[in-house]
Amino acid sequence: MSIEKKFFGKLSDGREVTAFTMKAECGVSVTVMDLGATMVSLNVPDKNGELKDIVCGYDSPEEYIKNDGYTGATVGRYANRIDKGHFTLDGKDYEISKNEDGKRTLHGGFCGFDKKIWRSEAGQCGCGADRIKFYYTSEDGEEGFPGNVDVTVVYRLSADGELAIRYLAEADKMTPMALTNHSYFNLDGYEKQDISRQLLTINANRFMGIDDESISTEFFDVQDTPFDFRKEKQIGKALFTNYEHVMIPGGIDHSFDIDGTGGKMLWKHDIPLVKSVTMRSKETGIVMDIYTDAPAMQVYSGNHMGGVKYKGGVEAKKQGAICFEPGYFPNSPNRTDVPSCIFGPDRPYSSTTVYKFSVK
Ligand code: GAL
Repeated sequence: MSIEKKFFGKLSDGREVTAFTMKAECGVSVTVMDLGATMVSLNVPDKNGELKDIVCGYDSPEEYIKNDGYTGATVGRYANRIDKGHFTLDGKDYEISKNEDGKRTLHGGFCGFDKKIWRSEAGQCGCGADRIKFYYTSEDGEEGFPGNVDVTVVYRLSADGELAIRYLAEADKMTPMALTNHSYFNLDGYEKQDISRQLLTINANRFMGIDDESISTEFFDVQDTPFDFRKEKQIGKALFTNYEHVMIPGGIDHSFDIDGTGGKMLWKHDIPLVKSVTMRSKETGIVMDIYTDAPAMQVYSGNHMGGVKYKGGVEAKKQGAICFEPGYFPNSPNRTDVPSCIFGPDRPYSSTTVYKFSVK
């Protein structure tokens, strides 16, 4: 195992951005940077033993700031949408940044965790796996949210190429929180920019609907809908239909209720995780299983992708890659029918997602 630390580039205000690459003996390697605690690349061996970089990213830090899309980033303080940029906690009303069309809060506000430079520390876990820890303190009132929050995000790569991301946070006041990673995956290699023929399993019986204002509505059963991914099928089968829930966002952009039907594992012997998603490419043979303890999985099929160039000048294409964002349901701070996203002095935040790779 080895960790390489490198200067990644400078922001327009002169601040330097550092990247770290962890390499496992099996060939898997991951590069992360302190800007946004972002995953920049993820190389995985295909069925011929050749490495494929399966996540989108940019060549310079400034492109991450300029371009929308939260590419590869850690998203917070609240990943997903909060309707009307408003919630009530303990009888007090909070107005938070309405950074989406001036109507609602998306992914933490105008300057969310994805745009911050995090403190970093590279090292090994007790078990010998490499890990990079990122720290960020979000101040009371940032984007309108209450309470100071100390956030830690840990990327950990084991010798057999299992990638884990742990999110830990402590808040000194009650506050909504949902932390996730916003990587765009394409198992043919990110440069291929087409996910329609790749295969997907989502272990969920229900998804949450949205209206044409992107406001979350109610849960729907996946049965008899294009969103029934309980058995493996091509992603394209859900993209090219007239189903109203596909028509609204122009593809998949919905939260699925991860219910444990996909099976369970104990990570590091004591953290219970469930298998939420499996993605597979017939072309490269790469299989990715995602395990998480988060209640919801936002699946976003890159419907707004395009108009930018990724690493090495690769042109971004609509639905060129897909995001799996483990976290809490949209608008959870204003709903009572979903798991609580309110954390505080008596309830520290802790969540883990594990990505496992194999070939078939
Ligand atoms: C996703 C969200 C999409 C879009 C995207 C960023 O998480 O569900 O609607 O906003 O982020 O382009």
